[in-house]
Amino acid sequence: MAVIAQKCPEINVTVVDINEKRIAAWNDENVENIPIYEPGLSAVVAEARDRNLFFSTDVDAAIDKADMIFISVNTPTKTYGIGKGMAADLKYIELCARQIARVAKDDKIVIEKSTLPVRTAEALKSILDNTGNGVKFQILSNPEFLAEGTAVEDLLDPDRVLIGGDIDTTEGMDAVQALVDVYAHWVPKDQILTTNVWSSELSKLTANAFLAQRVSSINSLSELCEKTGADVNEVSRAIGMDSRIGSKFLKSSVGFGGSCFQKDILNLVYIAKSFGLNEVADYWEQVIIMNDHQKKRFAENIVKTLFNTVSGKKIAFLGWAFKKDTNDTRESAAIYVADYLLNEQAEIVIYDPKVTEEQIYADLDYLGTRSEEENRKLVKVVNTPVNATEGAHAVAVLTEWDEFKELDWNEIYKKMLKPAFLFDGRKILDRKSKEAIGFQFYSIGN
Ligand SMILES: NC(=O)c1ccc[n+]([C@@H]2O[C@H](COP(=O)([O-])OP(=O)(O)OC[C@H]3O[C@@H](n4cnc5c(N)ncnc54)[C@H](O)[C@@H]3O)[C@@H](O)[C@H]2O)c1
Repeated sequence: MAVIAQKCPEINVTVVDINEKRIAAWNDENVENIPIYEPGLSAVVAEARDRNLFFSTDVDAAIDKADMIFISVNTPTKTYGIGKGMAADLKYIELCARQIARVAKDDKIVIEKSTLPVRTAEALKSILDNTGNGVKFQILSNPEFLAEGTAVEDLLDPDRVLIGGDIDTTEGMDAVQALVDVYAHWVPKDQILTTNVWSSELSKLTANAFLAQRVSSINSLSELCEKTGADVNEVSRAIGMDSRIGSKFLKSSVGFGGSCFQKDILNLVYIAKSFGLNEVADYWEQVIIMNDHQKKRFAENIVKTLFNTVSGKKIAFLGWAFKKDTNDTRESAAIYVADYLLNEQAEIVIYDPKVTEEQIYADLDYLGTRSEEENRKLVKVVNTPVNATEGAHAVAVLTEWDEFKELDWNEIYKKMLKPAFLFDGRKILDRKSKEAIGFQFYSIGN
């Protein structure tokens, strides 16, 4: 929304959220305090805020004024009832639809920006038409393909923008065109794709499933590389140069994280199952199974390498975010590796350049594996990599922050217990130089 406001100065954009703390942070005088860390975002907000970009908790007022409403609320995996652990929980979406229907007094275009199961637009339309004030609604699907960490870049120069609408009717086509006109302020027309609503909804789930599948595919081979003496980086490079395969998203790691991949694949699996397509469901579920395996085997390897016990040992974590250049920790591999090691009674000291102590404890408490007191007793969060690694038995790199490549690894080695173990879960460190320092070095797939 900030990028739309920046690129379309004649359009007023109001971002509303029921979370007052978040809105207050978006309105913070110091633009560096906005609640999401994303390279380039604070500058975009600084340019547009209070010009044509506003942040507010007054949802009704914003609905009333708007011609177009983007529903961008969370669609987490259900934690109860039918579809528990798989289906998307659409209660927040439904609440939005009911609120829009109640408040709207003139025709509106309602846009699905959240990632949704295919055919959600049908449910939205039913709620809007049946509970509304007799005004007309057009529903569009406009899934978001940005990646966290490069969000602004991705939005300014997207591979494509996808808009699904009721393209068989004139009203539907007009609505699609209205949204095309917004993006056309900065996106070349041939990169704005229009489709029917169902294709658009399904394309987003499919894109995330394909991306995650590539990571799980290369991760599955990383284990075979470790057994055979092949090097997964060399394999990636060799296959990535095949133009039919392509080189992106072939980096082996401790596993993918983030709020979307797992949730969206589970959602896809659930939809397939609900249509009785069990083979389709099993095929995609394997991507998640492999990812869980990768996280677990990274943690298991730490225990095995440290002479089969980490009880009472200090393990330093470099990184907690699910990837570099974001402060988002949702589904981060680090959480699961930590949980595994804490079950083995390890003591963990964490350094991440952008994630707060409060967030790290919240992530561990959310698992419910142990008490809040125990999490605070066993886990410490520090402000520098040196504080994390001093006196540690082992260091594990869990996020690929660039700064970890430039650390003074000689100094780190000196201040660690010996033998000093280094586990690179992101394949960002050079083996030869670390072994020359004296580290016992482990890197995935090598
Ligand atoms: N994060 C990403 O990189 C990304 C990328 C593409 C798509 N998506 C999709 O976008 C959606 C949102 O993701 P997110 O990461 O921003 O989630 P989020 O949980 O960070 O943000 C959702 C926000 O919606 C607010 N909210 C919930 N109900 C509301 C209501 N009735 N009225 C007003 N505000 C309400 C919440 O308070 C919260 O601040 C999801 O469907 C996700 O799959 C996210």
